[in-house]
Amino acid sequence: MDQTAILNQTWAYVQETLAGECSGHDWRHIQRVWRNALQIAQDEDVDLFVVQLAALLHDIADWKFHGGDLDAGPRAARMWLEQLGVDEPVIAHVCAIIGDISFKGADVATTMRTREGMIVQDADRLDAIGAIGIARAFTYGGYKGHAIHDPTTKPQRHANFEQYKNNTSPTVNHFYEKLLLLKDRMNTETGRSIAAKRHAFMEQFLDQFFHEWEGER
Ligand code: ADP
Ligand code: NI
Repeated sequence: MDQTAILNQTWAYVQETLAGECSGHDWRHIQRVWRNALQIAQDEDVDLFVVQLAALLHDIADWKFHGGDLDAGPRAARMWLEQLGVDEPVIAHVCAIIGDISFKGADVATTMRTREGMIVQDADRLDAIGAIGIARAFTYGGYKGHAIHDPTTKPQRHANFEQYKNNTSPTVNHFYEKLLLLKDRMNTETGRSIAAKRHAFMEQFLDQFFHEWEGER
């Protein structure tokens, strides 16, 4: 099977698998990440086949919905790609990216090992910030039954993945626990420049939010 056919089939598989997803990880998220990834990769000398496959499959079996199992994603991606007869080095590279991509807490390093991985991680993170990031955060918080905001619960820095994944903090805290940290953790120039604008918009949103909370605006 040629690369175009593999990508097309993978697209169909992802759309079908994530069709009813309502926590902010639906196939439209995948579509935006794929587009972001191609945009970032434009001026880079990378393997676009790997970039696209990793972008398409990065949330196919996210740990958040598989009992915190970080291997669920790479495992599902491997099964799919093996079935299509994709070469082993490509499968290994895509699965490594999927295994490493997630944010795992403020004090946990999530270093990507290849340029392809850096691009896909930036692409995914861009969709977690800005206007869409705000929409997704409250969608996820609602899905998990978290409060919008609670001034008596202070944001925390998570020192390890266990702490991060088990937290039930209000969604406004998630901005301080993850979303506002992302702009300084981007891997690519393009990612950094887009992140700066989206970051500024989130700060503006939070400023308005806290004023409204106090009935001031
Ligand atoms: P990652 O790969 O870093 O886990 P995803 O693409 O899977 O990123 O998306 C994570 C999305 O879920 C983000 O948009 C993020 O805002 C949202 N999210 C994750 N944890 C929380 C939380 N505790 N509260 C609100 N939103 C969350
Ligand atoms: Ni994602």
